[in-house]
Amino acid sequence: MKPAPPWFSWLNPVVTLLLPFSSLNVVAMALAEDRIPAPQLVPQPVSLSVSAGTFGLTDRTAIAAGPGAEAAAHHLAEALRAPTGLPLPVRSEADQPGAISIELDPGLASRLGREGYRLVVRREGVTIRAAASAGLFYGGVTLRQLLPAAIHSPKPVAPPTAWTAPCVEIEDYPRFPWRGLLIDVARHYQPVEFIERAVDLLALHKLNRLQLHLTDDQGWRIEIRKHPRLTEVGSRRRESPVKGNSRQGDGTPYGPFFYTQAQLRELVAYAQTRHVTLVPEIEMPGHFLGALAAYPQFACRGGPFQVRTRWGIEPDILCPGNDDAMAFVQDVLAEVVEVFPGPFVHIGGDEAPRDRWKECPKCQARIKAEGLRSEAELQTWLNRRVERFLASKGRRLIGWDEILEGGLTPGAAVMSWRGTAGGLAAATAGHDVVMSPTTHCYFDYSQSRAPGEPESIGGFIPLPTVYAFEPVPADLAMDQRQHILGAQGNVWTEYIRTPAELEYFAFPRAVALAEVVWSPAEARDYADFQRRLERHLQRLDQLEVNYRKLDR
Ligand code: ACM
Ligand code: ZN
Repeated sequence: MKPAPPWFSWLNPVVTLLLPFSSLNVVAMALAEDRIPAPQLVPQPVSLSVSAGTFGLTDRTAIAAGPGAEAAAHHLAEALRAPTGLPLPVRSEADQPGAISIELDPGLASRLGREGYRLVVRREGVTIRAAASAGLFYGGVTLRQLLPAAIHSPKPVAPPTAWTAPCVEIEDYPRFPWRGLLIDVARHYQPVEFIERAVDLLALHKLNRLQLHLTDDQGWRIEIRKHPRLTEVGSRRRESPVKGNSRQGDGTPYGPFFYTQAQLRELVAYAQTRHVTLVPEIEMPGHFLGALAAYPQFACRGGPFQVRTRWGIEPDILCPGNDDAMAFVQDVLAEVVEVFPGPFVHIGGDEAPRDRWKECPKCQARIKAEGLRSEAELQTWLNRRVERFLASKGRRLIGWDEILEGGLTPGAAVMSWRGTAGGLAAATAGHDVVMSPTTHCYFDYSQSRAPGEPESIGGFIPLPTVYAFEPVPADLAMDQRQHILGAQGNVWTEYIRTPAELEYFAFPRAVALAEVVWSPAEARDYADFQRRLERHLQRLDQLEVNYRKLDR
């Protein structure tokens, strides 16, 4: 905050005495304007200049939408109406005085890309311009952050609140195209309403990928019409580990919990309006016991299997030696791509012990027939089949960095979780990469060593560690750096049960990650971030986000 000028304290009574009432108001306003705090934006925009004066929302403010900008205009209008109660009509004539004008300008594409925007706030009005609707949307997100924190309230805010924003010129665009968060809905299912809330929270931080970890040993959470036992059997488990002792069962049946395809389609549409792409993750060949409990014939040796009731790594995995198992996988993915229109399907690929494959006649026959040299290459063979199938549907495969082990398939993208070395190797070989290492991006790890933290899977990733993450490895050649698509925070939920717990683990770390993936690397400044975060947490307070409080 800028301090009041030194003459303020003695001038004020003089002004009060000497000036008629109406002029006094003008002077007082000018003085008040002088004291408007600098905008506290998160993530920090590429460029920001502040000038004197403010723009205020009033009951006469309209939102003027240019051609193609209607969706962004209506979305912003709704967000602003809820707390203010102002009418904020959306009109199609551009450049109305006093309005918030939202316009597409394809000429901005070369400088700002699809997600960038120009936001100008003047006393007379606001303009948001962008080459595409994503940019218009993000301009609106920034405009809301310029207004008082209460603008983020989903409920009407009692007057008197002056809905003013400082006059600024902002030009802004993201550093990376993949700005992600993963929510593990397999270990603990989260209700649809919470996934929608998570989408809103991502959008508020200009994060744009939400990966849903839909299947695992402990549960199968997506309806597949052709194979209904996946959810009939796979979406429930006999019990879960008790809080505080993961070796002991709680004796309480869990589920059935899963998303219908209709629910997921609605979620996809909800996320699209907020420029968030949902990335489905269907784990294979490991972390597959939810499916094998329903269809044991697709394991190397027959079941029966039960949906796993403890965390950890499961030895029974998919049998890629079995043609029927391969057809089953394709059936599942065929329905998945019908529901999720995004370009990537995540096929997991991590933590798949290959011991069963060593003993399996079908897997060994496949290795021989295909001229493979190892079980690792058998996993690559599986990935290649899946990659071709996804390509036939116009989609790309992404998987955890274990998919490098038997050799990457040609079009695969890698999500690097065991450090960044896998990502570096993949990008060096010309593959796209999302960085999500356990050193910086595991939001299920503990945030503090102070007493009183909730039980967690272990590890330690405090806020400054997330903020310090650099997604582009220093050793990566310049001409391969464009392969680093971005970074992602992962919220695995073995030890996270409820939405409130999930918010506690995700925030404020997701805020720090948002700045890592959006703002220019050279703008990174932790002390400055901390100051802006103070204000930002007031916004999260309005939304009643259960973030972890900052250490004092
Ligand atoms: C992972 O954390 N196993 C991807
Ligand atoms: Zn097998």
